[in-house]
Amino acid sequence: MGYDFDKVIDRRGTCSAKWDGDPRRAQGVDCMGDMDPRELLPLWVADMDFPAAPEIVAALAEKVNRGIFGYSLIPDSCYEAIIAWEEKRFGWRIEKDWILFAPGAVPAAHMAVQAFCQPGDQVILQRPVYYPFFRAVFNNGARIVNSPLLRRDGTYEMDFDDFELRAADPRTSFFILCSPHNPVGRVWRPVELERVGAICARHGVTVFADELHGDLIMPGHRHTPFASLNETCRENSVTVIAPSKTFNLAGLQATVVIIPDKKLRRRFENVLTRNNIPAPGIFAAAGMEAAYAHGEKWLDAVLTYIHGNYEFLVHTLEDSLPKVKPFKLEGTYLAWLDFRAVEPDPDKLQKRMLTEAKVWLDEGKIFGSEGGGFERIVLACPRSILKDALDRIVKAFA
Ligand SMILES: Cc1ncc(COP(=O)(O)O)c(C=O)c1O
Repeated sequence: MGYDFDKVIDRRGTCSAKWDGDPRRAQGVDCMGDMDPRELLPLWVADMDFPAAPEIVAALAEKVNRGIFGYSLIPDSCYEAIIAWEEKRFGWRIEKDWILFAPGAVPAAHMAVQAFCQPGDQVILQRPVYYPFFRAVFNNGARIVNSPLLRRDGTYEMDFDDFELRAADPRTSFFILCSPHNPVGRVWRPVELERVGAICARHGVTVFADELHGDLIMPGHRHTPFASLNETCRENSVTVIAPSKTFNLAGLQATVVIIPDKKLRRRFENVLTRNNIPAPGIFAAAGMEAAYAHGEKWLDAVLTYIHGNYEFLVHTLEDSLPKVKPFKLEGTYLAWLDFRAVEPDPDKLQKRMLTEAKVWLDEGKIFGSEGGGFERIVLACPRSILKDALDRIVKAFA
């Protein structure tokens, strides 16, 4: 079946966080005066502007048409779809017992900090990194210890020496790994993951592997689940996957938490129990199962389209705004752009982007000070929307 990813769907007025939100409320932005947020073209939150795969829509419609929305169980077929997906896409064999659920990856990160950290413990983050991780740490009485990524030759690398110093601190108990990495678009290679995994195991640091973007991989790259590397990584890990980014189902709030080690699993389960977190509801389970069982063709097609958008972005910048440098996109649908040559002041950059270009992007500075002067743009939209955004940006910054 062909998919029409060029088709623009008007999402305004649908209570879409992306299209109906206001940067002042969503992100505390204070440089917009009384500007109407509807003037902004939004490419900020990681949310695709494409309809879900027809198989997913059909599975949800079937539930709607039955008209019965009582308490539900997770069917075995849903577990089987998750297990088969990980094995087929990544060669990782997981067992049903290892699987728990959460209403989101960020809630899972919060609960993991509750489960694995004592008040005052340190949690390693590698900034610039997905900013809600900061909340997961400080909302739960722990402290962030930053081991910044190193920027080298248009890409980013982990700083293993620095990481080991932080991990060796007896107050450090937890590491939130973002793999693939949002916002810098790295797909970590097995050698990198093995090295960081060995450091964590050596120093008793538990690894929370946020692999929400693990299915969103660009040509020539391969995602390796952290826990699939070796027994040490497997037994020291909590992995989060979900159909939310992959299949654009964030609103269904279905997230899978995979914990192979029994003791770690018990600790996470205790937090679920203490907060009485329910299992995914009827729509979450149906959408998740349909996605993993029948969504593969749609995913492969959408990835090709997104890669085309990335190439379009690169060529447009080369031709019209060559001082803005895009980083290589290995994974995710989020491009990371270096604006420092056109506007070195992060606050001025944000103001100009919002009030002159009238494009709402995620400002680099919100991923940590290392991101100041950078911008993150979402590529999962019809090319005409991306073109409109780039035209506005070129006009404002050229
Ligand atoms: C790395 C990463 N983790 C988690 C999330 C959000 O997950 P959820 O909406 O399931 O809490 C995102 C969303 O962009 C993300 O990029």
